[in-house]
Amino acid sequence: MPIIYHQQSQTFHLYNQSISYLMKILPSHDLGQLYFGKRVHDKEQFDYLLELAPRPMSPCYFQDDLTYAKEHIKQEFPVLFTGDFKQSAIDVEHGDGNHLLEFVYDHHCIFQGKEKLPDLPATYCNNVQDATTLKIYLVDHLLNLELVLSYTIFENLPVIARNSYLKNHGHDPIQLHSLMSLSLDLPDCQYDMIELTGAWSRERHIKSSPLREGMQSIASLRGHSSHHFNPFLALKRPHCDENDGEVIGFSLVYSGNFLMSVDVDTYHVARVQAGIHPATFQYELKHGEAFQSPEALIVYSHHGLNVLSQNFHTLFNDHLIRGHYKGKSRPILINNWEGTYFDFNEQKILDMAKASQELGIELFVLDDGWFGKRNNDHSSLGDWFVNLKKLPHGIGYLSSKIHQMGLQFGLWFESEMISYDSLLYQKHPEWVLQAPQRHVSHGRHQYVLDFSNPDVVNYIEEMMVKIIDESHLDYIKWDMNRSMSEVYSMYQKQGRVYHEYILGVYRLYEHLIQRYPHILFESCASGGGRFDPGMLYYAPQTWTSDDSDAIERLKIQYGTSLVYPISSMGSHVSAIPNHQLKRLTPLSTRANVAYFGTFGYELDVLQLNHDEKEMIKAQISFMKQYRQLLQFGRFYRLLSPFEGNETMWMVVNDQQSLAIIGYYRTLQEVNVGYRRVRLSGLDEQKLYIINQQEYYGDELMNIGLVISDESCGENHSDFGDYRSQLFIIQEKKP
Ligand code: DGJ
Repeated sequence: MPIIYHQQSQTFHLYNQSISYLMKILPSHDLGQLYFGKRVHDKEQFDYLLELAPRPMSPCYFQDDLTYAKEHIKQEFPVLFTGDFKQSAIDVEHGDGNHLLEFVYDHHCIFQGKEKLPDLPATYCNNVQDATTLKIYLVDHLLNLELVLSYTIFENLPVIARNSYLKNHGHDPIQLHSLMSLSLDLPDCQYDMIELTGAWSRERHIKSSPLREGMQSIASLRGHSSHHFNPFLALKRPHCDENDGEVIGFSLVYSGNFLMSVDVDTYHVARVQAGIHPATFQYELKHGEAFQSPEALIVYSHHGLNVLSQNFHTLFNDHLIRGHYKGKSRPILINNWEGTYFDFNEQKILDMAKASQELGIELFVLDDGWFGKRNNDHSSLGDWFVNLKKLPHGIGYLSSKIHQMGLQFGLWFESEMISYDSLLYQKHPEWVLQAPQRHVSHGRHQYVLDFSNPDVVNYIEEMMVKIIDESHLDYIKWDMNRSMSEVYSMYQKQGRVYHEYILGVYRLYEHLIQRYPHILFESCASGGGRFDPGMLYYAPQTWTSDDSDAIERLKIQYGTSLVYPISSMGSHVSAIPNHQLKRLTPLSTRANVAYFGTFGYELDVLQLNHDEKEMIKAQISFMKQYRQLLQFGRFYRLLSPFEGNETMWMVVNDQQSLAIIGYYRTLQEVNVGYRRVRLSGLDEQKLYIINQQEYYGDELMNIGLVISDESCGENHSDFGDYRSQLFIIQEKKP
C-alpha cells in the first residue's frame, strides 16, 4: 500500500517510486502539511518539520506555549480566523454571520482504487491497483459539519488527485462561500510560477515570473475556463528547464469559474490553492445537504518540464479521456467552416465531400449554419432542426450521401446558446440567463441558456438526439461562443448558477456519450476558450484555437503541450492568405504544424489546384502512416517559439525505435551562425538513420542534430520565411 498511517506520530505518508506526500494530525487535532516532493524513505515520524518556535505577534493556540501558532504551521486545509493569516481553503457563514470554523480529525480510511466523483469529471483507475486513496474525515463539532479530504496517489505516476467534500449534519443551514479543491503549503517560495495565458486566437502562451510575497493568482469569472487563463499553474525552480530540475504542476479538472492562487507570506511559505472561484459562488447547505468540490491534480517532475508534460499527457490519456477514442488515432477530417462560413448549400457540401474523399480524408464535418434559418450569426441558436432552404433533402439524406462516399459525418452544435431570433426564444424567453428589469449584454448576438435548469438541458438533449439519430453522426463539434454576463436564473438560487450551469453541461455530455459511445466529440469555445481537463473527460479532443495560422499555432500548440496531450489538440491546415492574419505560409509548413495534433483541413477543397491536391494527398498518407506516433508518442519540446525564431519539438515511440522532429523557422535570416540542437528521448545505444545518415542516440542527444542553412538554405527549395522541416528518425535494424 503506498499510503501509510503511522499511528504513534499520527503521520500520513503517501508515496510511490517518485513522490512523497506527508501530513500529520497536529496537537490541535487539525491537519498539518509536512512535505510534498521527491520521494523520501518512510519512517515513523517527521515532527521536526513542524519547526515550532516562538515568534512575536502570533496568536498562540495552547495556554503557556508561545511556540504553537497556526500562522507558523503549514496547514493542510486552512480555515479563517484561527491565526493562520493566509488564504483559507474553506469559508462558511453561519448563524449570526460569523465565519469561525474548527475542523478536527475524526477518522480516516485507506482503500485501493479511486472513487468516482458524482456528476463531476475526474481522473479514474483502469484497475483498482492503479491507485490508492486516503479519505480523511474532519468534523466541526459545534456546527456538526463534516469535511472530507480525499487524496489519491497513482501507483506509477507522480500524481496526487485531491478533492474536498462538505456535509452539514447540523440543524441550522449554513452558507458555503468557498470550498477549494486543494490547498498545499510549500515551505519556501524559490519558484517561478508558470501560467498559460492569452485571449481569443492567442490561447495558452507560456508566461513565467518569480513568486513574490503576497497573492498571485489566475482566475476565470467568464462562466467557462477561458482563453485568458487556463486552470493550470506550475511552480518550477528557477534553474529548471525542459530537461532538468524540479517542477510541480497544478491542474483543476473543471470547466467553469475557477481560482488558482499562490499566497506567499513574509516567512516565504507559499500556499497554493485551486478551486471554484468564490466570487460567484454561494451554496446554502441545509441539514443533510452536502457540496462536492471538483478534483485538483498535483503532478510532479524532478526532470524538468518535458517530463512534467509527459506525466500530464499520460495521466490524461490513460486516466481522464474515456470512450471509444481513448488511445486511438483520430480520423483525418475536413471542416467546412473557413471554406464556406455560412454560405453553402447541399450541392456544395456534397461536392466538397467528394473532393475530400478523393484526397484521402476520412470525416466530413459540417460546421455552423445547417439549422434553423441560420445564414449569419444573428439567428437560430436553439432551433436544432435542419435548414431546409440550404439542405432541401434534410440532414439524413446529406449524411447518407456522405456515408455512401465512404466518409464519416459530423455536425456542429452550440447547445448552450440561444438567439433572440429563434423559435426557442419565442417559446421560452425565461430560459435565458438574464435578470428581470436589468440590462442584458449579448455576445456575438447571442444569449446564454440557463443550463442550471434541468428542463432546459432535457429539452436541448431531445432536439440533439433527434438530429443525431436522423443523421447517424460519427462526430460532434460542441461549440460555445461567448463569455457569460448578467448571470441570473429564473430557476436557481443565484449563488449556485455558474456551478449548476457547468454541471448541466457535463450532464448533457454524459447522456450523449453514454447513448452514442461511438461518437467522437470535439469540444470548442470560440477555439480554445474551454480547453481544460474537465472537458477532456467527455470530449477527447478540443479545437485548440480559432487561429489557424501555422506560425501563430506554433506558440499556441507549444503552450498547450505543457499540459494537454497532442491527441487532444484540434489542428487543421487552412487556406492562405490565412483568414485571421492574411499571412502566407507554405502548405508544407501548415501541415508540418498540424501533424502534431488531431490533423485535418479547414478550407474549400474545390478551390485547390492540381499541385496542391497532390501535396495534400501525400500529407494525408503521411499522417495515416505516422498518426499513432504523432498523437500518442512521448512528446519533447526542444526549441521554444517564445524564446526565438525557431521552434522544434519531437515525438518518440515507446520502443525508442522511431521518432519525428518538427523544425520550424519563423523568419529567414541571412548568413546565420551554426546551429546544433540536442534531441531527447532516444536510446543512447541505438543506431538511428536520419535522411540516410547514421547517428547513435548518444550523438543526437549529446552533440545534437545539425540544423543550419544547409537544411533550409539559399539553394534549398525551402528558402524563405515560415519554412519548416520534418525529420524522421528510424532505428537501424541490424
Ligand atoms: C467558433 C469556432 O471556434 C469555429 O471553429 C466555428 O465553429 C465557429 N464558431 C462557428 O460559428
